[in-house]
Amino acid sequence: AAPWVGFGSGKVILLGEHSVVYGHPALAGPLSYGVTARAVPAKRCYLSLPGTLGRAQRNLLTQAFQRAAVLCGSPPVKVTLESELPLSMGLGSSGALAVASTRVLLKASGRDDSPEAVARLALEMEQEFHGTPSGVDHTTSAQQKLLLYKRTAGQSTGKVRILKSPRPLKMLVALVGDRSPTKHTVAALRARQARWPERYTRLFKQIGTLASEGAKAVEQGDLEALGDAMNVNQGLLAALGLSSPPLEEMVYRLRGLGALGAKLTGAGGDGGAVIGLFLEPEPAVAKLLELGVRCFTSQLAGPRAL
Ligand code: PMV
Repeated sequence: AAPWVGFGSGKVILLGEHSVVYGHPALAGPLSYGVTARAVPAKRCYLSLPGTLGRAQRNLLTQAFQRAAVLCGSPPVKVTLESELPLSMGLGSSGALAVASTRVLLKASGRDDSPEAVARLALEMEQEFHGTPSGVDHTTSAQQKLLLYKRTAGQSTGKVRILKSPRPLKMLVALVGDRSPTKHTVAALRARQARWPERYTRLFKQIGTLASEGAKAVEQGDLEALGDAMNVNQGLLAALGLSSPPLEEMVYRLRGLGALGAKLTGAGGDGGAVIGLFLEPEPAVAKLLELGVRCFTSQLAGPRAL
């Protein structure tokens, strides 16, 4: 009953960003932080946005929301959003927003709000933001599970394999610099791939293999093997031209602090998020916070301490 609440988690890609766009598998997991949407009955169906947003952003969000509201068959409700995620840093804030909004609209409509139904409709919102994403963001957010995702050719949906981790998967997430829009990074890579298809296809395939090997390592509880796959993936992302000095510096910093593996996550470019897999991330996070680095930890999967 009202008020209805819907949550969409942020996400990190552990292995396989970019190559996932070309149909190779990616390993992704949910953050404990995300976007919460709340809905209360109202005279008309609308998204209430903070006055601080610019006009272009308001219009985009409103348009995406109205599309979702129609598709969800929503009754007239007022929806408010609350985000714990930094925007545009490769942590899936737009996917989380789409999932939270869709989930709350489906709940208010009394319709099926299973992860699959949410993912299917959240995609419609994501498309307003991103054009044709691989689908890994909103799928991970809707499932809220660690998973291996493989895109169906040309679509923003694909095959999902939920993974169980016998060991806690603790990730340190650090934010560096400013990021260029994912759309630009993806398009620039597309141009290089079109010019030298064999070279780039070879690298994408290798990254896809790392993602599959990483999934196996997770299921076997072999965090050292997962960390190594992350390090190798970082090298391949650099080879693809997706890394930069600020991202590299943070990657080496996290490794220096004891990460089993560290890499950029998401689109890459001039800045964004870097992840490090740690057995015990707390001392590293304390050290980084002391140095003024924006960072946090999140357990992506595995048994949780009581
Ligand atoms: O939303 P981001 O910045 O985390 O990037 C998504 C990952 C990409 O593989 C680069 C794009 C996509 O559509 O999967």
